[in-house]
Amino acid sequence: MRIKRNTYQKVCHLIASNIRDKVKHNSHVVLGLATGSTPIGIYEQLCKMKHTNFRDTTTFNLDEYVGLDKNHNQSYQYFMNKHLFNSINFKKHHFPNKDNLNQYDLMITNTGGIDIQILGIGTNGHIAFNEPGSHRHSSTRIVDLSENTINDNSRFFENINDVPTQAYTMGMSSIMSADKIYLIAMGRHKKEILEEAMLGDVTEEIPASILQEHPNCEVFYSE
Ligand code: GLP
Repeated sequence: MRIKRNTYQKVCHLIASNIRDKVKHNSHVVLGLATGSTPIGIYEQLCKMKHTNFRDTTTFNLDEYVGLDKNHNQSYQYFMNKHLFNSINFKKHHFPNKDNLNQYDLMITNTGGIDIQILGIGTNGHIAFNEPGSHRHSSTRIVDLSENTINDNSRFFENINDVPTQAYTMGMSSIMSADKIYLIAMGRHKKEILEEAMLGDVTEEIPASILQEHPNCEVFYSE
């Protein structure tokens, strides 16, 4: 699978412009959204698009920590409010949580499915919180976070013991059902896992590698 190399600014601009064009063409677009440092540039670009009408656009976030209140400053809901939802009024935004967990995939299907899915990648090859070993047909569920992920994400918390050990995650199945996927890896620390995932064997041990089987997935790398 081809990895496209470009500057972070250009990648974010390209993806944000494609989202805008899609929304202009069909305002009832469904977006799959990611958290983490990687997509922030895309959200910054979207927030500048004052003339685009997102009022009919629905969003589904990939994941959320178990046990953090939505107002906690490390919850993904807080992150999305800060970087996107406080600036853009979408029709509705959704996060997986304990109440909707078993309906989340159906909710996505009932809105017509995800048109554009944004993905980052974890240093262990996870996408959303689908950790190594996640089944390719997995549904939205609660997962135990790997030691690697807890370590990586501890940079956002005061103490590693504060990092939640579980998360709600959209499953591989809904991610793979998206019409279009953009995966972005930013930073040299992601280069090795990205190449392994995109150029190596397809294996559930590297969940992102399953994207090689998606018919419309674009992969970007910027240093
Ligand atoms: C987190 C999220 C993922 C994200 C990844 C990379 O654990 N669950 O959805 O893609 O880690 O994060 P970052 O972009 O900060 O490197």
